[in-house]
Amino acid sequence: MSESKGQFNSNFGFIMASVGSAVGLGNLWGFPYKMGSNGGFAFLILYLLMLCMVGFTIMLGEFAVGRSTGKAPIEAFRELNSKFLIVGYMAVLAGFGILAFYMTLGAYAMKYFAANFAAIFTHSGIFEATDTAAYFTDFVGNGGQVVLFMAIFCVLNMIIVMGGVAGGIERFTTIAMPALFIMLIIVIIRVLTLDGSGGGLEFMFKPNMEVFKGSGWIGVLGTAGGQMFFSLSLGMGAIITYGSYLSKKESLVKNAFIVPLADTAVALMAGLAVMPACFAFNLEPAGGPGLMFITLQQVFNDMGSAGPIFGFIFYFLVFIAAITSSISVIESSASAIIDARIRKGKSYNRKPIVALVIAIVFCLNLPTSLDALGAGGLPQPLGFCWLDFYDLLAEGILMPLGSLILGIFVGYVMKIDWLKNECESEGQKFSLAGFWTATFKVTAPIGMVFILLGQIDGFFGLGWFS
Ligand code: ALA
Repeated sequence: MSESKGQFNSNFGFIMASVGSAVGLGNLWGFPYKMGSNGGFAFLILYLLMLCMVGFTIMLGEFAVGRSTGKAPIEAFRELNSKFLIVGYMAVLAGFGILAFYMTLGAYAMKYFAANFAAIFTHSGIFEATDTAAYFTDFVGNGGQVVLFMAIFCVLNMIIVMGGVAGGIERFTTIAMPALFIMLIIVIIRVLTLDGSGGGLEFMFKPNMEVFKGSGWIGVLGTAGGQMFFSLSLGMGAIITYGSYLSKKESLVKNAFIVPLADTAVALMAGLAVMPACFAFNLEPAGGPGLMFITLQQVFNDMGSAGPIFGFIFYFLVFIAAITSSISVIESSASAIIDARIRKGKSYNRKPIVALVIAIVFCLNLPTSLDALGAGGLPQPLGFCWLDFYDLLAEGILMPLGSLILGIFVGYVMKIDWLKNECESEGQKFSLAGFWTATFKVTAPIGMVFILLGQIDGFFGLGWFS
């Protein structure tokens, strides 16, 4: 039995789903620390510059590829120009690469919100652990427990995506994203009223021109570009797929500005929640899992009896940020399979296809979940822990390379008139035509080459930009 692939009911639903895809762990544990340790306010300026040179542009390109064809990445490129089919395959593969570690991180968030929730009532559990680093190491080293939480996270993703575009994804994200926003505000208010939180604001916002000395600014620009790129969920199929479900009546140009700006606003808000908290309790600021699950849990432990409540709110927020990103990528993979069946004239049923994608994603996550971030004794591919290995394939290579080609494809192969026609399809305006021409033809390809090199340099520690 085949059903319609579906459509978002409203532009608000589309924006919530797309912002949900973009706002994820990258915003919460990547942005605040990278901004603080790479020049503070000056980093923000370079981040915004990369957004203008590349971010808005590739976002608009992905929306247009999706909406013009009504298809997920692979069949979208087959329809537009089959010579570029490889870009569609790269996006779907990159999506699986991201999901291959994202579900495990979602599992960590679930464990932590559950432990903090339990501690509200029992004053035990996580609060008995005086050493949050040891607590984290014990948890990630307990493969059975991590796999169990990862399986639950997979099932929750499956339930939402099986519900369809409007009934599952839109319904969930239109509740979850405003809830995330409110939870973030609550945490920010609590954190900014802690004694000593000012140090965190200084760490994040005070311009530090030292990092720009000599060729330092090139490294900072690369860090800002890589962060911006991952944070916007570009090159992983999700944005093309969500674009394919948007009504022709809606403005692509407007949405291509709203989604990245909302993502940046949430990243800045995450900074206001996270960094001042570390400073208030004299904890070393950091990035990555260490910040999220060791330093911040220490903050909640140190908050006294209100700690578990704020801990629960915060880790629930992390869970929402993770799941609204993962469902977008799962939808993209499922949609790619559905499109292939439609092309072959076969019937399809969304539910078993989503179940198949989830089963693959679960298997891909087994090594990540059992690897304990490299301490689990599993063989390490290319010398990386499994999380970093999958991340290298997706974020390091496939996503930036695919987006580089997509930018060139829109600017030089389909051309700006095609983009204009798609943007104006039902009378909407193609505003800022000169800006889009310049960015698609010049700044986005240059910026994407730079981001690609920066990612490879960062993963392999080659020191090209130092
Ligand atoms: N854009 C998502 C994030 O920031 C993948 O985590």
